[in-house]
Amino acid sequence: MRRTALVTGAAKRVGRAIALELAGHGYDLAIHYRSSPDAAEDAAEACRALGAAAFTVQADLAEVDACEHVVREVRERWSRLDVLVNNASVFQPVPFEQISVAQFDQMHAVHVRAPFLLSQGLLEPLRASDRPLVLHMCDIGADRPVPGYAHYSASKAALVMLVKAMAVELGPELRVLGISPGQVAWPPDYSDEKRERLRKKIPLQRVGEPEDVARLARFLADDAPYLSGCIIPVDGGLSARYP
Ligand SMILES: NC(=O)c1ccc[n+]([C@@H]2O[C@H](COP(=O)([O-])OP(=O)(O)OC[C@H]3O[C@@H](n4cnc5c(N)ncnc54)[C@H](OP(=O)(O)O)[C@@H]3O)[C@@H](O)[C@H]2O)c1
Repeated sequence: MRRTALVTGAAKRVGRAIALELAGHGYDLAIHYRSSPDAAEDAAEACRALGAAAFTVQADLAEVDACEHVVREVRERWSRLDVLVNNASVFQPVPFEQISVAQFDQMHAVHVRAPFLLSQGLLEPLRASDRPLVLHMCDIGADRPVPGYAHYSASKAALVMLVKAMAVELGPELRVLGISPGQVAWPPDYSDEKRERLRKKIPLQRVGEPEDVARLARFLADDAPYLSGCIIPVDGGLSARYP
């Protein structure tokens, strides 16, 4: 029997890598995207090439209605959901004194409210699984803020708490986990000089790959039945470092 997974923000980068890793290990995929329909269809096609059934679903997860749309689309197709990966993210620096209410709210809507709404709306199909997992994509920046990202870091810190709160309240049926990437895919606007400066701080002296996260996600889904309520860094040792 094939298993089922919804991955948000799965058209590109880390989300796509998670979708493909799961597709290659027996999962059918719901590929969520916001503004990248061609890339999402390409990701779905790549999943199909690995033997998975895959469909795409569009939604701006900053909107409550759109979250409900994703829930409906998944529930219409599947009565059982094995894995929900809340991966979609916004990463835009703004100096603290210039962060607008709209920017602050958008971060929290995408990084906390949407994971909450999708988890809540999909509880019934998740509970129909024999080993369901909700996996939230956090960030080592959730407790190590970087200047320019106060709104981002605060929202990811709230997501860390959502991992723990859900794990405490929704066990024993559900396991709830977080992955905190360090640097696993560069933001496109980082200069070579900035990339090199950041790379040198990483104990493993290299940047990770989306596949490093994807392999852990698949392991957590399939081979970690006694893990819940924790957040695992995938960062080459960066979060162990001070300063
Ligand atoms: N990359 C890293 O090194 C790194 C480091 C730390 C933490 N993380 C975390 O790991 C996860 C994946 O990282 P990533 O770099 O691959 O993410 P990303 O490229 O920044 O974002 C993933 C996707 O999120 C979607 N998205 C953005 N705003 C949205 C909205 N309002 N509604 C719905 N979807 C929206 C976009 O989909 P469309 O393209 O379809 O618009 C985008 O492709 C994220 O949660 C991120 O915070 C990543």
